[in-house]
Amino acid sequence: MRLLMIGRLNGELVTASKIAMQRGAAVTQADAVPQGLTVLRARGADLIMIDVGLDIRALVGALEAERIRTPVIACGVAADARAAVAAIQAGAKEYIPLPPDPELIAAVLEAVTSDSRAFVWRDPAMERVVRLADQVARSEASVLITGESGTGKEVLARHVHQKSHRAQKPFVSVNCAAIPEALLESELFGHEKGAFTGAVARRIGRFEEANGGTLLLDEISEMDVRLQSKLLRALQERVIDRVGGTAPVKVDIRVLATSNRNLAEEVRKGTFREDLFYRLNVVHLRLPALRERPADILELAAHFAKKYAAVNGLAPRALSAEARTLVTRNPWRGNVRELENTLHRAVLLASGPEIGAEAILTPEGDAIGPADGPATRAAQAAQAADAARGLVGRTVAEVERDLILDTLDHCLGNRTHAAKILGISIRTLRNKLNEYVEAGLEVAEPGGVRALAAYG
Ligand SMILES: Nc1ncnc2c1ncn2[C@@H]1O[C@H](COP(=O)(O)OP(=O)(O)OP(=O)(O)O)[C@@H](O)[C@H]1O
Ligand SMILES: [Mg+2]
Repeated sequence: MRLLMIGRLNGELVTASKIAMQRGAAVTQADAVPQGLTVLRARGADLIMIDVGLDIRALVGALEAERIRTPVIACGVAADARAAVAAIQAGAKEYIPLPPDPELIAAVLEAVTSDSRAFVWRDPAMERVVRLADQVARSEASVLITGESGTGKEVLARHVHQKSHRAQKPFVSVNCAAIPEALLESELFGHEKGAFTGAVARRIGRFEEANGGTLLLDEISEMDVRLQSKLLRALQERVIDRVGGTAPVKVDIRVLATSNRNLAEEVRKGTFREDLFYRLNVVHLRLPALRERPADILELAAHFAKKYAAVNGLAPRALSAEARTLVTRNPWRGNVRELENTLHRAVLLASGPEIGAEAILTPEGDAIGPADGPATRAAQAAQAADAARGLVGRTVAEVERDLILDTLDHCLGNRTHAAKILGISIRTLRNKLNEYVEAGLEVAEPGGVRALAAYG
C-alpha cells in the first residue's frame, strides 16, 4: 500500500503518516500539488492524503486530465467544517479530521487496500483450485484465472501474489475492459512527455508500477489484437516501450490474467493471439461457480454477515435455520458478489436476535429463490405476455435502453455483471451508458441503483 501525503509534514500530518506507516503503508511526502503530481507520474500511489489548505481542485483536475485513478482524501483540523465541505466539493473522497484518530486512519487504509480482503473457502471443489494455486504461486509462471462473473477471480489472483516470493512488492491490477482502447497502451506502458495531446509530462505505466511484483491483467480478452502483440513482447523480452519513448525499459513482473470469456474460443475466432494465449495459460485456474461448491455458500454467508455487521457497527448475528436453507438453495447466478450484496442487505434489514429468512431479499425487496413452482411459472408467463404487449409501439432503441438500465440496476451498478447478463461486451455496455449519460439520463453508479428505480 503506497500512500502519498501532500502537504508540509508538521505536527498532525506527521502523526497521521506515522500511523499509516505502522499499519504497513509505504509513505512518500510532497510539499505541494505539483511535486505530488511528479511523484504520481514517476511512481504511482494507491492513496493520496492532502492537506485541506492546498488546492485540492487543481489536484483532482490534473488527476482526471491524466487519468490517474488514485483516490484523494483531505485532512484538516476537525473544527473547520467549511474547509471539509469545500474539499469534498473539490473532489476529495473523504475528509479526515486532525488530530488523526488511529482507528480512522486504519479504516481508511483498509478500505482502499484490498490486500486485507479475506479469502474464504471450504468446499472440496474449491480446495482443489486453492491447492493448485498454492503450488504454482512460488513459481514465476503466468497464470490464467477464469470463472463466471463474481466467482472471486481477483481475490484468487491476490492470493497467488500473497503466496509468492513477490508478496512484499506491489500487486497492481488493470481492468482492460474499463479503459478505453486508445488509452490502454499508455496506461500499461506509460508515456513520454508530448507523446500525444494531453501527455504533459512523462508518466510510468502499470508495468513499471508493478516492477518487482505482480501485474493482474483483468478481463484480458477485451484487449485489442494490436496491443496483444506489444504485451507479448513485454512478456517474452521483459522490456516495454513507453508510448512516444525511444529506449526500451526493463521490467521484472509476473503476470496473472483473468477472463470471463473462453480464451481458447477467442483464439479460434481470431480475436485473441494464439501465442499470447499459450504464454498466459501456463497454468489455468478455473474457479467453479458458487452453485458448484455448495459448502462454500454457508461459510461465505457467515463471513459476510460478520463483516457487514462490523462495518455498520452492529452486533454480529447468526443466520437462522430457515435463512440458511434459503441461501443454500438459491442458484446465485451472480456468484459470490451476489451473495455478498444479499448478506449486506440482510444485515441491515434483519431485526431480532438472528438474521431471518425474511431479511434475505433481492435488491428490489422481493424474496430470493429459484421461483420454480407451477404457480409462479404461470404468473411469470402471464407477466411476460403483458410485458411483450407493452413493447409494441416502442422503438428497438428505447426498449434496449430500458433493458440495459434496468439490468444495471439489478446488478447494483456492476458493469461486468450486467454485460454478462445482457450478453454484450463490457466495452459495448460502456459505450451505450456514455450515450445515455450524454443524453441526460441517469445511470446506476457502481454499488447503487438509479434514484428513480429505487423509489418509483
Ligand atoms: N473466496 C472468497 N472469499 C471472500 N470474499 C470473496 C471470495 N470470492 C469472492 N469474494 C468477494 O466477492 C466479490 C467478487 O469477487 P471478485 O471481484 O474477485 O470476482 P471476479 O470473479 O473478479 O468478478 P468479475 O468477473 O465481475 O470481475 C468481491 O467483493 C470479493 O471480495
Ligand atoms: Mg474481477
